[in-house]
Amino acid sequence: MTAESGASTLIIGCGDTGVRLAARAVATGEDVLGVVRSAESAARVRSVGARALCLDLDAEVGTLPACRRLLYSVPPSRDGDTDERMRRVLAAMPAVPAHVVYISTSGVYGDCGDDWVDESRAAAPTTSRARRRVNAEQQIAAWASHAVILRVPGIYGPGRLPIDRVLAGEPVLADTAGGWTNRVHIDDLAGMAWRVATEQPRHTIYNACDGTPTRREAYYDTLAELMATSAPPKIDWAEARERFSAVRLSFLAESRRLSNARLLADTGYRLVFPDYRDGLVASLRGDVRGPVY
Ligand SMILES: NC(=O)c1ccc[n+]([C@@H]2O[C@H](COP(=O)([O-])OP(=O)(O)OC[C@H]3O[C@@H](n4cnc5c(N)ncnc54)[C@H](OP(=O)(O)O)[C@@H]3O)[C@@H](O)[C@H]2O)c1
Repeated sequence: MTAESGASTLIIGCGDTGVRLAARAVATGEDVLGVVRSAESAARVRSVGARALCLDLDAEVGTLPACRRLLYSVPPSRDGDTDERMRRVLAAMPAVPAHVVYISTSGVYGDCGDDWVDESRAAAPTTSRARRRVNAEQQIAAWASHAVILRVPGIYGPGRLPIDRVLAGEPVLADTAGGWTNRVHIDDLAGMAWRVATEQPRHTIYNACDGTPTRREAYYDTLAELMATSAPPKIDWAEARERFSAVRLSFLAESRRLSNARLLADTGYRLVFPDYRDGLVASLRGDVRGPVY
């Protein structure tokens, strides 16, 4: 079978999350094709027993293979207000698959202050990055009305912690009004995405996160504590504006407390890491639980 022939599961963007999804799918007997950009990523996809196809979604795409399940996990194009990568992929699909999942971000909600945020909250993107996400969500929902959109906050896990920043004593913004952040362990994200890809759930939009939003400082302080090193120094907004990039400041300007109640109720998914502290301990050990990559 060639890389281009049809698959039961097609993963567009088979990166850190995608390769974990590929491993889960392979373990259940699926024939998986993972689309990536680089040869290095293609080798990683093959290492979990899936086929790999290298494409650059920033250029025109020929016809993609048919599939039963489509999981889309590529960030939007780098500029503009529309996601041209998504447009090219949807135009290249020969048919709408039975199951479609899009991994989006909770950034579409914009700044919500101290509010708890569930899926009934309207998207209110404040950056062009978030507007492209909203556009991607709209494109895939228009193409497949049954597409499930997962709104995902910061993804962490083994190899995805700000260890170097903490060791270098880099400062973090002191908690101010708002300042709420949310996370999801990468293995839980893969678990939730695979669940909604295999059982069509009741709703088409879900927050896919752990159950423990925290003030920003707490995450860094907990990581430093677990690394047995000093907590990062805290700086105020004036100093942050001088030291941090515009992109980093745009993330810091937003605050949300995400609720995962809908996803847990509809799918019965049980989080391996409902609390980031346990997830940090496991990530620092490079420990991976469950049937994952
Ligand atoms: N980082 C976070 O905390 C966070 C939070 C919320 C949502 N998200 C979103 O969640 C999704 C999964 O995140 P992740 O960390 O697992 O992503 P990732 O590891 O960066 O994987 C993204 C995949 O997309 C592929 N890709 C990117 N640009 C491409 C292009 N122009 N043509 C073809 N393939 C392209 C990459 O291929 P190569 O590996 O070959 O480059 C990679 O396989 C992404 O959409 C991400 O933006 C991330």
